[in-house]
Amino acid sequence: MRAYAVQSAGEQPATHDLEVPEPDRGEVRVRVVAASVNGFDLAVAAGYMAGFFEHRYPVVLGREFAGIVDGIGPDVDTLVIGDRVLGVVSKPHLHDGAFAEYTTAVAESSVVRTPEGMTDAAAAGLGHTGSTALIILASLGDVAGQKILVVGATGGVGTIFTQLAAAMGAEVIATGRTEEGRSLMAELGAAHTVDYADLDAEVRAIAPDGVDAVVHLIGDAASLAPLVRDGGMFVSTLLYAPEMFPDPERLTPAPIAGFPSGDGLRLLTGMVDDGRLRVIIDREVEFDEIGDAFAAYGRETIGNIVVRIG
Ligand SMILES: NC(=O)c1ccc[n+]([C@@H]2O[C@H](COP(=O)([O-])OP(=O)(O)OC[C@H]3O[C@@H](n4cnc5c(N)ncnc54)[C@H](OP(=O)(O)O)[C@@H]3O)[C@@H](O)[C@H]2O)c1
Repeated sequence: MRAYAVQSAGEQPATHDLEVPEPDRGEVRVRVVAASVNGFDLAVAAGYMAGFFEHRYPVVLGREFAGIVDGIGPDVDTLVIGDRVLGVVSKPHLHDGAFAEYTTAVAESSVVRTPEGMTDAAAAGLGHTGSTALIILASLGDVAGQKILVVGATGGVGTIFTQLAAAMGAEVIATGRTEEGRSLMAELGAAHTVDYADLDAEVRAIAPDGVDAVVHLIGDAASLAPLVRDGGMFVSTLLYAPEMFPDPERLTPAPIAGFPSGDGLRLLTGMVDDGRLRVIIDREVEFDEIGDAFAAYGRETIGNIVVRIG
Protein backbone atom coordinates (compact mmCIF):
# COMPACT_ATOMS: atom_id res chain seq x y z
CA MET A 1 0.00 0.00 0.00
CA ARG A 2 1.02 3.62 -0.51
CA ALA A 3 2.12 5.26 2.75
CA TYR A 4 3.86 8.48 3.75
CA ALA A 5 6.44 7.23 6.21
CA VAL A 6 9.78 7.63 7.90
CA GLN A 7 11.88 4.49 7.29
CA SER A 8 14.50 5.03 9.98
CA ALA A 9 15.53 7.55 12.65
CA GLY A 10 16.59 10.88 11.18
CA GLU A 11 15.29 10.12 7.70
CA GLN A 12 12.96 12.52 5.88
CA PRO A 13 9.38 11.29 5.35
CA ALA A 14 8.57 10.09 1.83
CA THR A 15 6.04 7.93 0.02
CA HIS A 16 6.81 4.22 0.34
CA ASP A 17 5.17 0.96 -0.65
CA LEU A 18 4.45 -0.89 2.63
CA GLU A 19 2.58 -4.01 3.75
CA VAL A 20 -1.11 -3.60 4.55
CA PRO A 21 -1.25 -3.73 8.39
CA GLU A 22 -3.13 -6.38 10.39
CA PRO A 23 -5.35 -5.22 13.27
CA ASP A 24 -4.11 -6.31 16.68
CA ARG A 25 -6.29 -7.30 19.65
CA GLY A 26 -8.88 -4.58 20.26
CA GLU A 27 -8.08 -2.86 16.95
CA VAL A 28 -9.80 -2.34 13.63
CA ARG A 29 -8.19 -1.86 10.25
CA VAL A 30 -9.54 1.13 8.35
CA ARG A 31 -9.36 1.79 4.63
CA VAL A 32 -8.46 5.45 4.86
CA VAL A 33 -10.46 7.90 2.73
CA ALA A 34 -9.08 11.17 4.12
CA ALA A 35 -6.61 12.28 6.80
CA SER A 36 -5.81 15.65 8.28
CA VAL A 37 -2.43 17.29 8.97
CA ASN A 38 -1.52 18.02 12.61
CA GLY A 39 1.43 19.44 14.49
CA PHE A 40 1.95 15.94 15.88
CA ASP A 41 2.82 14.69 12.38
CA LEU A 42 5.38 17.44 11.86
CA ALA A 43 6.86 16.68 15.27
CA VAL A 44 7.21 12.98 14.41
CA ALA A 45 8.74 13.84 11.03
CA ALA A 46 11.27 16.12 12.75
CA GLY A 47 12.21 13.42 15.27
CA TYR A 48 10.84 15.39 18.26
CA MET A 49 8.70 12.47 19.48
CA ALA A 50 11.68 10.12 19.89
CA GLY A 51 11.71 10.53 23.68
CA PHE A 52 7.95 10.22 24.10
CA PHE A 53 6.89 7.24 21.96
CA GLU A 54 8.58 4.00 20.95
CA HIS A 55 9.17 4.20 17.18
CA ARG A 56 8.65 0.90 15.31
CA TYR A 57 10.03 1.64 11.86
CA PRO A 58 8.79 2.20 9.29
CA VAL A 59 6.69 4.86 11.06
CA VAL A 60 3.73 5.98 8.95
CA LEU A 61 2.77 9.59 9.66
CA GLY A 62 -0.79 10.84 10.23
CA ARG A 63 -2.97 10.83 13.33
CA GLU A 64 -6.53 11.84 12.34
CA PHE A 65 -8.49 9.90 9.74
CA ALA A 66 -11.86 9.13 8.15
CA GLY A 67 -12.51 5.86 6.34
CA ILE A 68 -14.26 2.49 6.22
CA VAL A 69 -13.66 -0.43 8.60
CA ASP A 70 -12.32 -3.33 6.55
CA GLY A 71 -10.75 -5.60 9.16
CA ILE A 72 -11.55 -6.48 12.77
CA GLY A 73 -9.04 -7.73 15.32
CA PRO A 74 -9.85 -10.08 18.23
CA ASP A 75 -12.08 -8.72 21.03
CA VAL A 76 -13.74 -5.92 19.07
CA ASP A 77 -17.50 -5.78 19.42
CA THR A 78 -18.27 -2.08 18.90
CA LEU A 79 -17.72 -1.90 15.11
CA VAL A 80 -18.29 -4.10 12.05
CA ILE A 81 -16.74 -4.33 8.61
CA GLY A 82 -18.21 -1.67 6.33
CA ASP A 83 -18.81 0.92 9.09
CA ARG A 84 -18.01 4.47 8.01
CA VAL A 85 -15.78 5.79 10.78
CA LEU A 86 -13.51 8.56 11.97
CA GLY A 87 -10.80 8.39 14.55
CA VAL A 88 -7.28 8.80 15.77
CA VAL A 89 -4.21 6.58 15.51
CA SER A 90 -3.25 6.74 19.18
CA LYS A 91 -1.12 3.95 20.63
CA PRO A 92 1.86 3.81 23.00
CA HIS A 93 4.12 3.21 20.01
CA LEU A 94 4.33 4.76 16.53
CA HIS A 95 4.05 2.50 13.49
CA ASP A 96 0.72 2.64 11.61
CA GLY A 97 -0.49 6.07 10.56
CA ALA A 98 -3.30 7.83 8.75
CA PHE A 99 -1.36 8.94 5.64
CA ALA A 100 -1.65 5.47 4.12
CA GLU A 101 -4.25 3.48 2.23
CA TYR A 102 -4.84 1.41 5.37
CA THR A 103 -4.26 2.03 9.04
CA THR A 104 -5.14 0.39 12.34
CA ALA A 105 -6.56 2.01 15.47
CA VAL A 106 -7.87 0.98 18.88
CA ALA A 107 -11.62 0.49 18.45
CA GLU A 108 -12.87 1.26 21.97
CA SER A 109 -11.00 4.52 22.60
CA SER A 110 -10.13 5.89 19.18
CA VAL A 111 -12.70 5.00 16.49
CA VAL A 112 -16.39 5.95 16.22
CA ARG A 113 -19.03 5.87 13.50
CA THR A 114 -19.21 8.98 11.31
CA PRO A 115 -22.58 10.75 11.37
CA GLU A 116 -24.47 10.23 8.10
CA GLY A 117 -24.52 13.87 7.07
CA MET A 118 -20.84 14.51 7.81
CA THR A 119 -18.41 14.58 4.85
CA ASP A 120 -15.24 12.49 4.95
CA ALA A 121 -13.15 15.68 4.81
CA ALA A 122 -14.85 17.05 7.92
CA ALA A 123 -14.65 13.65 9.63
CA ALA A 124 -10.91 13.54 8.94
CA GLY A 125 -10.46 16.80 10.86
CA LEU A 126 -12.33 15.96 14.06
CA GLY A 127 -10.67 13.11 15.97
CA HIS A 128 -7.40 14.58 17.22
CA THR A 129 -8.29 18.29 17.18
CA GLY A 130 -11.68 17.65 18.80
CA SER A 131 -10.26 15.35 21.49
CA THR A 132 -7.64 17.99 22.27
CA ALA A 133 -10.29 20.73 22.45
CA LEU A 134 -12.32 18.62 24.90
CA ILE A 135 -9.30 18.12 27.15
CA ILE A 136 -8.59 21.87 27.12
CA LEU A 137 -12.21 22.51 28.07
CA ALA A 138 -12.05 19.98 30.92
CA SER A 139 -8.87 21.60 32.25
CA LEU A 140 -10.70 24.93 32.62
CA GLY A 141 -13.51 23.64 34.86
CA ASP A 142 -16.79 25.56 34.67
CA VAL A 143 -16.19 28.07 31.87
CA ALA A 144 -19.56 29.83 32.08
CA GLY A 145 -18.92 33.58 32.33
CA GLN A 146 -15.13 33.19 32.03
CA LYS A 147 -13.23 35.46 29.66
CA ILE A 148 -10.98 33.07 27.72
CA LEU A 149 -8.38 34.32 25.25
CA VAL A 150 -7.70 31.72 22.53
CA VAL A 151 -4.42 32.37 20.72
CA GLY A 152 -4.25 30.48 17.42
CA ALA A 153 -8.05 30.29 17.43
CA THR A 154 -8.41 29.93 13.66
CA GLY A 155 -6.63 26.54 13.58
CA GLY A 156 -8.01 23.02 13.83
CA VAL A 157 -8.05 22.91 17.65
CA GLY A 158 -9.05 26.55 18.17
CA THR A 159 -12.08 26.46 15.87
CA ILE A 160 -13.49 23.46 17.75
CA PHE A 161 -12.53 24.69 21.22
CA THR A 162 -14.17 28.07 20.56
CA GLN A 163 -17.47 26.42 19.63
CA LEU A 164 -17.42 24.13 22.69
CA ALA A 165 -16.48 26.89 25.14
CA ALA A 166 -19.00 29.38 23.72
CA ALA A 167 -21.73 26.73 23.94
CA MET A 168 -20.88 26.34 27.64
CA GLY A 169 -21.27 30.08 28.24
CA ALA A 170 -17.65 31.28 28.04
CA GLU A 171 -16.84 34.74 26.69
CA VAL A 172 -14.26 33.74 24.09
CA ILE A 173 -11.76 36.25 22.74
CA ALA A 174 -10.42 34.69 19.53
CA THR A 175 -7.36 35.74 17.55
CA GLY A 176 -7.43 35.99 13.77
CA ARG A 177 -4.93 37.48 11.37
CA THR A 178 -7.36 38.10 8.54
CA GLU A 179 -10.84 39.58 8.36
CA GLU A 180 -12.01 36.22 6.98
CA GLY A 181 -10.58 34.43 10.02
CA ARG A 182 -12.08 36.89 12.49
CA SER A 183 -15.53 36.79 10.96
CA LEU A 184 -15.48 32.99 10.97
CA MET A 185 -14.55 33.01 14.67
CA ALA A 186 -17.49 35.34 15.41
CA GLU A 187 -19.76 32.96 13.49
CA LEU A 188 -18.44 30.07 15.61
CA GLY A 189 -19.43 31.86 18.80
CA ALA A 190 -16.48 34.05 19.81
CA ALA A 191 -17.79 37.08 21.72
CA HIS A 192 -14.78 39.15 20.59
CA THR A 193 -12.20 38.79 17.85
CA VAL A 194 -8.78 40.40 17.88
CA ASP A 195 -5.99 40.77 15.35
CA TYR A 196 -2.94 39.10 16.81
CA ALA A 197 -0.67 41.77 15.35
CA ASP A 198 -1.92 44.14 18.09
CA LEU A 199 -2.98 41.62 20.71
CA ASP A 200 -2.07 43.44 23.93
CA ALA A 201 -4.02 46.63 23.31
CA GLU A 202 -7.06 44.84 21.89
CA VAL A 203 -7.27 42.34 24.76
CA ARG A 204 -6.76 45.00 27.43
CA ALA A 205 -9.62 47.02 25.94
CA ILE A 206 -11.90 43.99 26.41
CA ALA A 207 -10.51 42.75 29.74
CA PRO A 208 -8.76 45.64 31.58
CA ASP A 209 -8.06 43.43 34.64
CA GLY A 210 -6.87 40.54 32.51
CA VAL A 211 -8.62 37.48 31.11
CA ASP A 212 -9.51 34.51 33.33
CA ALA A 213 -7.55 32.12 31.13
CA VAL A 214 -5.45 31.97 28.03
CA VAL A 215 -5.48 28.98 25.69
CA HIS A 216 -2.06 29.02 24.11
CA LEU A 217 -2.07 27.18 20.79
CA ILE A 218 0.62 29.17 19.06
CA GLY A 219 3.08 32.03 19.60
CA ASP A 220 5.24 33.23 22.47
CA ALA A 221 3.95 32.08 25.88
CA ALA A 222 5.87 34.65 27.94
CA SER A 223 4.27 37.57 26.11
CA LEU A 224 0.77 36.23 26.81
CA ALA A 225 1.10 35.76 30.58
CA PRO A 226 0.66 39.49 31.46
CA LEU A 227 -2.76 39.42 29.76
CA VAL A 228 -4.09 36.94 32.36
CA ARG A 229 -5.48 38.17 35.69
CA ASP A 230 -3.85 37.16 38.99
CA GLY A 231 -4.87 33.59 39.83
CA GLY A 232 -5.95 32.87 36.25
CA MET A 233 -5.07 29.83 34.16
CA PHE A 234 -2.47 29.33 31.46
CA VAL A 235 -3.49 26.38 29.28
CA SER A 236 -1.07 25.26 26.58
CA THR A 237 -0.85 22.54 23.95
CA LEU A 238 2.77 23.51 23.31
CA LEU A 239 4.31 23.42 26.79
CA TYR A 240 4.30 19.88 28.12
CA ALA A 241 5.70 20.35 31.65
CA PRO A 242 4.59 22.80 34.38
CA GLU A 243 8.13 24.16 34.76
CA MET A 244 8.01 25.43 31.16
CA PHE A 245 5.08 27.76 31.90
CA PRO A 246 5.46 31.53 32.35
CA ASP A 247 4.65 33.28 35.64
CA PRO A 248 3.91 30.12 37.68
CA GLU A 249 3.56 32.13 40.93
CA ARG A 250 0.59 34.04 39.57
CA LEU A 251 -0.98 31.63 37.07
CA THR A 252 -2.07 27.98 37.20
CA PRO A 253 -0.32 26.01 34.45
CA ALA A 254 -2.27 23.39 32.48
CA PRO A 255 -0.21 21.36 30.00
CA ILE A 256 -2.47 19.57 27.53
CA ALA A 257 -1.90 16.13 26.01
CA GLY A 258 -4.48 15.47 23.32
CA PHE A 259 -5.52 11.82 23.56
CA PRO A 260 -8.89 10.50 22.36
CA SER A 261 -11.56 8.67 24.34
CA GLY A 262 -14.58 6.81 22.99
CA ASP A 263 -16.94 8.97 25.06
CA GLY A 264 -15.24 12.16 23.89
CA LEU A 265 -15.42 11.16 20.22
CA ARG A 266 -19.10 10.20 20.60
CA LEU A 267 -19.84 13.54 22.26
CA LEU A 268 -18.16 15.38 19.37
CA THR A 269 -19.85 13.37 16.60
CA GLY A 270 -23.19 13.79 18.39
CA MET A 271 -22.72 17.56 18.39
CA VAL A 272 -21.82 17.51 14.69
CA ASP A 273 -24.88 15.36 14.00
CA ASP A 274 -27.28 17.78 15.65
CA GLY A 275 -25.69 20.87 14.09
CA ARG A 276 -23.97 22.28 17.21
CA LEU A 277 -20.41 21.74 15.98
CA ARG A 278 -18.72 22.45 12.63
CA VAL A 279 -15.34 21.17 11.47
CA ILE A 280 -13.62 23.85 9.43
CA ILE A 281 -11.64 22.73 6.38
CA ASP A 282 -9.10 25.12 4.90
CA ARG A 283 -8.45 22.99 1.82
CA GLU A 284 -8.16 19.45 0.51
CA VAL A 285 -4.99 18.23 -1.16
CA GLU A 286 -3.91 15.04 -2.94
CA PHE A 287 -1.64 12.35 -1.50
CA ASP A 288 1.41 13.53 -3.45
CA GLU A 289 0.98 17.03 -1.97
CA ILE A 290 1.44 15.93 1.69
CA GLY A 291 4.94 17.41 1.81
CA ASP A 292 3.59 20.82 0.68
CA ALA A 293 0.75 20.54 3.21
CA PHE A 294 3.31 19.93 5.99
CA ALA A 295 5.19 23.05 4.90
CA ALA A 296 1.99 25.12 4.93
CA TYR A 297 0.71 23.81 8.28
CA GLY A 298 0.35 26.42 11.02
CA ARG A 299 0.53 29.41 8.68
CA GLU A 300 -2.25 31.11 6.82
CA THR A 301 -4.67 28.28 7.32
CA ILE A 302 -8.18 28.47 8.71
CA GLY A 303 -9.13 25.10 10.13
CA ASN A 304 -7.69 21.85 8.81
CA ILE A 305 -5.70 20.82 5.76
CA VAL A 306 -7.15 17.49 4.62
CA VAL A 307 -5.35 14.95 2.45
CA ARG A 308 -7.51 12.80 0.15
CA ILE A 309 -6.24 9.24 0.37
CA GLY A 310 -8.73 6.87 -1.26
N1 LIG B 1 -0.27 18.77 23.09
C1 LIG B 1 -1.06 18.12 22.26
O1 LIG B 1 -1.43 16.96 22.49
C2 LIG B 1 -1.53 18.80 21.01
C3 LIG B 1 -2.70 18.37 20.37
C4 LIG B 1 -3.15 19.08 19.26
C5 LIG B 1 -2.42 20.18 18.79
N2 LIG B 1 -1.28 20.54 19.42
C6 LIG B 1 -0.52 21.73 18.99
O2 LIG B 1 -1.39 22.84 19.17
C7 LIG B 1 -1.15 23.80 18.16
C8 LIG B 1 -2.46 24.15 17.48
O3 LIG B 1 -2.88 23.05 16.71
P1 LIG B 1 -3.81 23.27 15.44
O4 LIG B 1 -3.96 21.95 14.80
O5 LIG B 1 -5.02 24.02 15.82
O6 LIG B 1 -2.86 24.21 14.55
P2 LIG B 1 -3.22 24.94 13.20
O7 LIG B 1 -4.44 24.33 12.61
O8 LIG B 1 -2.01 25.02 12.39
O9 LIG B 1 -3.61 26.40 13.69
C9 LIG B 1 -2.71 27.36 14.07
C10 LIG B 1 -3.41 28.70 13.85
O10 LIG B 1 -2.69 29.70 14.52
C11 LIG B 1 -2.70 30.88 13.75
N3 LIG B 1 -1.48 31.64 14.08
C12 LIG B 1 -0.25 31.55 13.53
N4 LIG B 1 0.61 32.36 14.18
C13 LIG B 1 -0.11 32.97 15.16
C14 LIG B 1 0.20 33.90 16.17
N5 LIG B 1 1.43 34.37 16.33
N6 LIG B 1 -0.77 34.31 17.02
C15 LIG B 1 -2.03 33.83 16.89
N7 LIG B 1 -2.40 32.93 15.96
C16 LIG B 1 -1.45 32.50 15.10
C17 LIG B 1 -2.75 30.44 12.33
O11 LIG B 1 -3.50 31.41 11.66
P3 LIG B 1 -2.92 32.33 10.46
O12 LIG B 1 -3.19 31.54 9.26
O13 LIG B 1 -3.79 33.51 10.54
O14 LIG B 1 -1.48 32.62 10.71
C18 LIG B 1 -3.48 29.09 12.41
O15 LIG B 1 -4.84 29.25 12.08
C19 LIG B 1 -0.11 23.19 17.22
O16 LIG B 1 1.16 23.68 17.55
C20 LIG B 1 -0.17 21.71 17.52
O17 LIG B 1 1.06 21.07 17.28
C21 LIG B 1 -0.80 19.88 20.51
